[in-house]
Amino acid sequence: MDRPTVCLDDEQIEMFHRTGYLVLPAITTPEEVERLQSVYDQLFATKAGRAQGDHLDLVTTDEDDQTPVLPQILNPSKYAPALVDTQLRANAEAIARQLLGPEAYFAGDHAILKPPHTPASTPWHQDEAYAQPEWDYNYINFWAPLQEATLENGCMQFVPGSHRQEVLPHRPIGNDPRVIGLEVDEPERVAAGAVACPIPAGGATIHHGRTLHYTGPNQSNQPRRAYIMIFETPRKPRATPREFPWLAIQRTKWQERSAAAQGDKA
Ligand code: NI
Repeated sequence: MDRPTVCLDDEQIEMFHRTGYLVLPAITTPEEVERLQSVYDQLFATKAGRAQGDHLDLVTTDEDDQTPVLPQILNPSKYAPALVDTQLRANAEAIARQLLGPEAYFAGDHAILKPPHTPASTPWHQDEAYAQPEWDYNYINFWAPLQEATLENGCMQFVPGSHRQEVLPHRPIGNDPRVIGLEVDEPERVAAGAVACPIPAGGATIHHGRTLHYTGPNQSNQPRRAYIMIFETPRKPRATPREFPWLAIQRTKWQERSAAAQGDKA
């Protein structure tokens, strides 16, 4: 594993806890970004993880014969070990320990590709809306674009302070239970005061599991590649029960493929 080369200062740590997000202009080198780009593109070109239930389309009904609009790969490092031993991962892990404490561990990764001229946004949501309601979570996400991220190609946007709220009511995108992606109810109201965070290649944003975030359409003629790493502390059973009805109503092709893949393993 590479040795960490970056470290947050007190002001950045305070800013993260206050706003629920942080912008890092450099967490790896442009050279590493270039290397990871080709690994990333290969994963999407081959639809890695499709049979295992790790490849999906976030915003459509995700039929097998469809070209995905907003393709996502879960656990890409399982299919591309080159994603593991990186400066990016080493730095993210060191920073995660600064923000969450020494117990923080790598909990998984995923990748969201926005092909050139994709009109679809990744709508406003809190990541914890996708999690299991029985557990209490404490986790952060590193969102590392593998090229520059701009307003034009769909950089990250956050609502400062939104991580202090509970998980808000969500729904499947377009209210279609066949779609895996979620969006928060009343986005215009809850996302007031959002801040767009363009970053150069080699940078990353960090957000808490409850921070409201969004990325816009990709209006550029290049792909917008986002590689996401999750770090968490051990989860605990929740004392006060809660329900996420938006998950209970979902009936997606992705669930079918994951269940079939689980069955194959059994
Ligand atoms: Ni998210």
